Amino acid sequence: MTLGSHELWRRARAVADVARYGLSYAMVRYFVSAPVPLDPDHVWGFLTRPGPAWQDAFIQGYPFRFQRRWLLARRFSRSHADGIEEHYDVSNAFYRLFLDRDLMLYSCADFDRPDDTIETAQVRKADYLLNLIQPRAGERILDLGCGWGGMMHHIHAHTGDRAGLRGMTLSREQARYVSEKFGYDVVLEDFITAAFEPASYDKIYGIGSMEHVRPNEVLPLLRRLHQALAPTGRLVLHFFSLNGDDLPTSTITGQIFFPGSALSRYEDFLQAAGDAGFTITHDSTHDYRPTLRAWFDRLVQNRDEAIALVGVQTYNRYLTFFPASWTFFDQKQATLHRFVLEKAR
Ligand SMILES: C[S@@+](CC[C@H](N)C(=O)[O-])C[C@H]1O[C@@H](n2cnc3c(N)ncnc32)[C@H](O)[C@@H]1O
Repeated sequence: MTLGSHELWRRARAVADVARYGLSYAMVRYFVSAPVPLDPDHVWGFLTRPGPAWQDAFIQGYPFRFQRRWLLARRFSRSHADGIEEHYDVSNAFYRLFLDRDLMLYSCADFDRPDDTIETAQVRKADYLLNLIQPRAGERILDLGCGWGGMMHHIHAHTGDRAGLRGMTLSREQARYVSEKFGYDVVLEDFITAAFEPASYDKIYGIGSMEHVRPNEVLPLLRRLHQALAPTGRLVLHFFSLNGDDLPTSTITGQIFFPGSALSRYEDFLQAAGDAGFTITHDSTHDYRPTLRAWFDRLVQNRDEAIALVGVQTYNRYLTFFPASWTFFDQKQATLHRFVLEKAR
């Protein structure tokens, strides 16, 4: 069997990637760059099957810490807007092919029963968050990273009030969708640097958006959100954080999917929340794995339409992203938490 020139190039690049970015990065980029649609069973099996101990040790230990720091410093010189655009401004129609049809939520759902669909699980999650946010008609409510507006819509359906709702996103495609489909107030702005008026919101929530906030940005952001809340206000955050090292090699691999983003450690988040003046009154954990599998299956079912919309490379990127993330949670490198942070003590 002779290898074509593209395949030779992919393999040569994979070897170079191992040296520069580590084994996990190299494997993921090798899959993502396949010129033909990936075999779903192969990619899921390969990326989720536990490897030998030496391989895991190599994946977790290389690149060395000083190299990780250096590599990330270069990534962090790019703006958040660039990274968000790269991941989210692919095509709204493409996301519709694998997200739940009702709310189009791109965040961990609550699968409780074996026959749950992604639709049932996302509505259950949205209800859970509704209970944490406790929105009331007449309140000013801010959604940090509103995606396609599903949670705003859920709140509006619950309170009957849309006037006080505002969404923020850095994705042009999402902002257009939310304002055209629902007519909600949505601003295309970076919530990490946005200027908030003091006491301008009764409730602020972020679902799956704190993962994009770099560790050094967490405390300043929480301080500003604390100020932006009314005296009895609350902040509800749903996001995953690291259980171990503050700069694992997975942060380097993660740059393939989320350029410029880096997760924080759970303990560091707790510390920052306290330092910003919040009291944590709720902290629950949830399993991301069933959601990732559900998105993967939906995408595979809609393979041809997906490729027609975004091309083979982007299709392969997501087909790789879901199992790679599944393994990340399966290995307990990170855990999804839901928090309520109260301003009043
Ligand atoms: C994983 S999606 C979740 C979307 C939505 N909350 C949901 O649950 O479906 C992350 C969202 O955060 C937004 N986002 C991330 N970083 C942001 C930032 N610095 N400023 C504004 N929006 C941001 C993205 O544009 C996207 O809408």
